[in-house]
Amino acid sequence: MSASSSRLEFLGQLAGGLAHEIKNPLSTIKLTLQLLEEDFVKEDSPTAKRAVRKLEVLLREVQHLDDIVQEFLTFARGHDIKLTRTNLREMVVELFEFLADDAQARGIRLHFDYEGELNNLLLDSTLIRQAILNLLRNAFDALEGKDGGEVILRARIKGDLLGIEIIDTGCGIAASNYDRMFRPYFTTKKKGTGMGLPMVRRIVEEHGGQITFESEEGKGTRFLILMPVDPEKRGSLKSMVRSEQP
Ligand SMILES: Nc1ncnc2c1ncn2[C@@H]1O[C@H](COP(=O)(O)OP(=O)(O)OP(=O)(O)O)[C@@H](O)[C@H]1O
Ligand SMILES: [Mg+2]
Repeated sequence: MSASSSRLEFLGQLAGGLAHEIKNPLSTIKLTLQLLEEDFVKEDSPTAKRAVRKLEVLLREVQHLDDIVQEFLTFARGHDIKLTRTNLREMVVELFEFLADDAQARGIRLHFDYEGELNNLLLDSTLIRQAILNLLRNAFDALEGKDGGEVILRARIKGDLLGIEIIDTGCGIAASNYDRMFRPYFTTKKKGTGMGLPMVRRIVEEHGGQITFESEEGKGTRFLILMPVDPEKRGSLKSMVRSEQP
């Protein structure tokens, strides 16, 4: 292990410990605010009403902090991958059903295009679902302000590899942002956390795969996930992917 990677590991542990330490006082603060709110809600005076409104703001902010710390901890620790036989086609159909109302409201057409046997893949279905959902949500956001548009999910097996593409006809990505896309907390959205893509990449790499993208500003973006179908072969691709990281 190089000096810089052990230093990075140490910093990671330190940050993880810090995040963990922040969680306890945060939950005490949250509980106390809730108790205070219960007291004020019982009173009818204008002062009590103002207090309730302020407490609600505080509770929202505390919840926001808690979410950030929780996301950080999950990211820092990584996941315990649980591989189960998964029907990827069914998973995508269910995800599309879940997103159908939202898509319709935004005038987005969703397409699913697949090839090959997708019904018996060894994956952590919860994590892969989360990764695909994150990419689909980004695709939806990219179409914000456009008059509708298209989101295509393409899944296929090619030889030993499973390929999943998520394509949108949205705003695209500025070339100056390419390097930052997978960096934790990089976001161009008002309410984004910037942890979506780092989490997706982590999940894909935990499956021994890699994720890349290509994009054209104003035209759209295509994310491509490639992972070995056979979990036995995931170790080798994983080390290939890792060694490409700076
Ligand atoms: N399909 C896409 N089209 C255009 N830009 C994208 C796309 N996907 C991601 N991005 C850009 O990458 C940034 C980081 O994405 P990421 O998912 O990590 O965070 P986010 O979407 O901003 O926040 P969150 O996922 O927490 O809601 C986005 O803010 C956006 O600028
Ligand atoms: Mg996102």
